[in-house]
This record gives sequence, C-alpha cells and structure tokens, in this order.
Amino acid sequence: MTTVRDLQELAGEEPITMLTAYDAATAEIADETGVDVLLVGDSMGNAVLGHENTLPVTVDEMASRVGAVARGADDALVVADMPFLSFGADEGESVKNCGRMLKEEGANAVKLESGPHTVELTERLADLGIPVMAHLGLTPQSVNQTGYTQQADDREEAESILDLAREHEAAGAFALVLEHIPANLAAQVTEALDIPTIGIGAGGQCDGQVLVFTDVVGMADGSPPFARQFGDVRSEMTDAVSAYVDAVESGEFPADEHASSSAELDDLY
Ligand code: KIV
Ligand code: NA
Repeated sequence: MTTVRDLQELAGEEPITMLTAYDAATAEIADETGVDVLLVGDSMGNAVLGHENTLPVTVDEMASRVGAVARGADDALVVADMPFLSFGADEGESVKNCGRMLKEEGANAVKLESGPHTVELTERLADLGIPVMAHLGLTPQSVNQTGYTQQADDREEAESILDLAREHEAAGAFALVLEHIPANLAAQVTEALDIPTIGIGAGGQCDGQVLVFTDVVGMADGSPPFARQFGDVRSEMTDAVSAYVDAVESGEFPADEHASSSAELDDLY
C-alpha cells in the first residue's frame, strides 16, 4: 500500500502519477498499471453523473464511489475529494464528512479545495489522523466566482496562492494540487514547499501530474485544453455497442453457444 510518506519520498526522485477513478473496474486497471494515487474526484459530477459542473455532487454519492475505488485498488493511495459545502462551513460536520471517507469507505486521505477557510480545518483533520491533500489555483467548486479560466495571471493573485500554499503546508497538508495556473508560478510554489505538488494544467515542474480518467482514455465528450487524450475508448465503446445492436437486430446474437435448452421442458405448452 502506498502511504502519504511514500509519496513524500517519491517527490523529487521520480514524478508522482495521479489519476481520477470513479468505480472499482477502472480503479483496478489504474492500480495494476502502477498509478501512485487514485483520486475519487468530484469531477464525477461531469464525468459520470451528467451534471454541468461539480457543485451538485453529494457526500453520499462520493462515499459510494470512494468505497468502489478502494475495493478496486490494491496499492494506490486512495484520496476522497470532498464535495462542495461538505467541508469548510462547520468544523464538526467537516470532520464527520471527511472521517466517513476513511472510516466507512476505505479512503486513505481527503482532498479539499483550499482557501483561507481550510487552513485551520486542515490542521484539525491532520491532528485527527485524516491526511489532507490541498488544492489551489483553479478550484472548480468556485466556478460561479472564477469561471474555468487560468488563475493567477497577476502578481497579487500569484502571491496569494504562494502564501496559501505555505499556510496549508504549515497546517499539515501532505500534498498540494495546483490546477490551471502559469507554469512558472507552479514551479516556484514547488520550489518553496517541502510537500509534493501535483499539477494539472500547471506545467511540467510540479512533483507529479494528475488528469481525469475519462480525458486520459478518450471517453470524455470534450476535454480541457491542458488534458491529453492517450486512448480512444469512446470510439471502441461505440463500435462494441453498435455491433451488439446490429447482431441482435440481425438475429445473429444470441447464437446456440450462448443458450442452453433442456429436453424435459419441450412440451410445457
Ligand atoms: O475532481 C477532480 O478530478 C480534481 C482533479 C482534477 C484535481 O479535483
Ligand atoms: Na475536484
């Protein structure tokens, strides 16, 4: 099993690989290829639940998927991404929601979209034995304030990200996701911190990279500009499903080999 300490030891030695997963089957595939971290991202809102954004994802939906991924994964560190408003407002409720992912579902850590409101919470969770991955830059749960454009294009915003990164490290975060910020900012944040940074749309100088599963395998219906499609699963699926439909319509499926009969039942009607 990969631990947060293993990740910290990997940082700077070799790039950390992180990928989202939302079910046991794909978690098993990713785990077998040696992915270090499986993030059960609230990107499931878009990627699997058909929502426009991540805001509607519930704690129950996340818990169900975290359980599935934890059962499918053997070696990878499983991180539960905490949904919009499930953390950060009330401390007791935040601890309960985050704790549930480890206690009941088998996650190894949680990820919180970070800001000034998560510094103390990160410390509290870490004290309680719940490792916290921080997340700065573009934080899609704030889409109504920021849109999906690249963040920190001016000095002031960049400095605030650097400050918040340091504060979350000091509060005990074990790693930091940097999303959709200039590569030279991500490089400096990486330099400034001891904990690993994991980038998405943040250039090649972070300690690791993360992408969304459906983008990587080519199953998504449109991907962000910083993602890369490494496969074409959508067209494979289209081919398989249309071959099935054709085979049923033509009577070619099921064939004799897909069925069995019992002579005893021949004269029931
Ligand atoms: O939900 C998600 O997939 C994420 C990653 C893109 C970091 O938060
Ligand atoms: Na997310």
